[in-house]
Amino acid sequence: MSSVYYPDYLQLDKILGAQAPESDKQGAPAHDEMLFIIIHQTYELWFKQVLHEVGSVMALFADGHVDDNNGELSVAVHRLGRVHTILQVLVQQIDILETMTPLDFLDFRDMLRPASGFQSTQFKVLEAKLGLRMEARFGKQYYTSQLKPEHKAEIEALESAPTFFDLINAWLGRMPFLQERYWPAGGTPFWEQLKGIYAGSLVKGEEGNLALWEKLFETGAERRLSPAAARSAVFIMLYRDEPIFHMPYRLLERLLDIDEALATWRYRHMSMVHRTIGLRVGTGGSTGKQYLAGALSSHHIFQEIADLSSFLFERKKIPALPETLKMALRFGS
Ligand code: HEM
Repeated sequence: MSSVYYPDYLQLDKILGAQAPESDKQGAPAHDEMLFIIIHQTYELWFKQVLHEVGSVMALFADGHVDDNNGELSVAVHRLGRVHTILQVLVQQIDILETMTPLDFLDFRDMLRPASGFQSTQFKVLEAKLGLRMEARFGKQYYTSQLKPEHKAEIEALESAPTFFDLINAWLGRMPFLQERYWPAGGTPFWEQLKGIYAGSLVKGEEGNLALWEKLFETGAERRLSPAAARSAVFIMLYRDEPIFHMPYRLLERLLDIDEALATWRYRHMSMVHRTIGLRVGTGGSTGKQYLAGALSSHHIFQEIADLSSFLFERKKIPALPETLKMALRFGS
């Protein structure tokens, strides 16, 4: 019989012995502080799991080759789906914390200063790994100001490492199917055909969108997604029913799911903060609700992929693919 013993395996003595309410230490026990600690600890455990999944998926993309024959893309899609499910649970957990009323929180809030979720290194690492760069941050003046030097250094080191966004950009940019060799010579080049169909689908008030098309798919100016990557993503979205694109399409969906779940968490957290502390500043030194609203509107990671939906059109207008390409899209070709 195995000698593994449940409480030891899970090191429950450490986990269950890790709740030390400040209000107990200060001789004025506040009932809800236990909930406050446990909920934050639960979040941190889930952040750890999310980082474990995201890190493993980034490793699959980091060597410049995603091996479909070994199911690497399928593994990535599966793990990102798990990340999304965890994030949905993290959103729901806010319901539990909202059972703590403002007066319940005031019983111990002042004892926590200057600690705040703002000091969650794992959360900042997650954002940085996914692709949020310092220059794109709202409130950068205090973004790392409340961190210990070693945690600040950890976040700053990630600024020069490739992010998941960078890896996805490179992967999309490598997709070969838009290369000339797959397309018959002569006639209107495929991308020009698409541009024409798109231009014909614009309604009054959207005339300026053609300039956006050029920016995204031709010059790439002011965009993080390269024109080659943007073209591949639109191609995958339009021809997602081709078997070879099933997984790439699902991967793009998972990225948008994750972005949306993070934004939903930010929104729910911000509303909870508002109803709990009103307009007061945060214990972590930010402007509180105002900072959280700024982060909510600007801290998207994969929004350039969501933008691409603007360039899709009705199914019946999607051009049929040439035979040379259809052959190339078959598995094993
Ligand atoms: C009553 C409960 C809570 C209140 C009143 C609250 C309040 C705040 C405030 C005011 C901020 C802005 C930064 C600051 O100045 O402190 C903040 C940031 C943050 N909080 Fe909370 N929070 C609560 C619960 C939670 C929980 C349960 C988590 C889970 C980990 C969390 C995670 C975070 C994170 C990650 C940030 C940084 C967000 C960002 O930079 O976009 N908070 N919180």
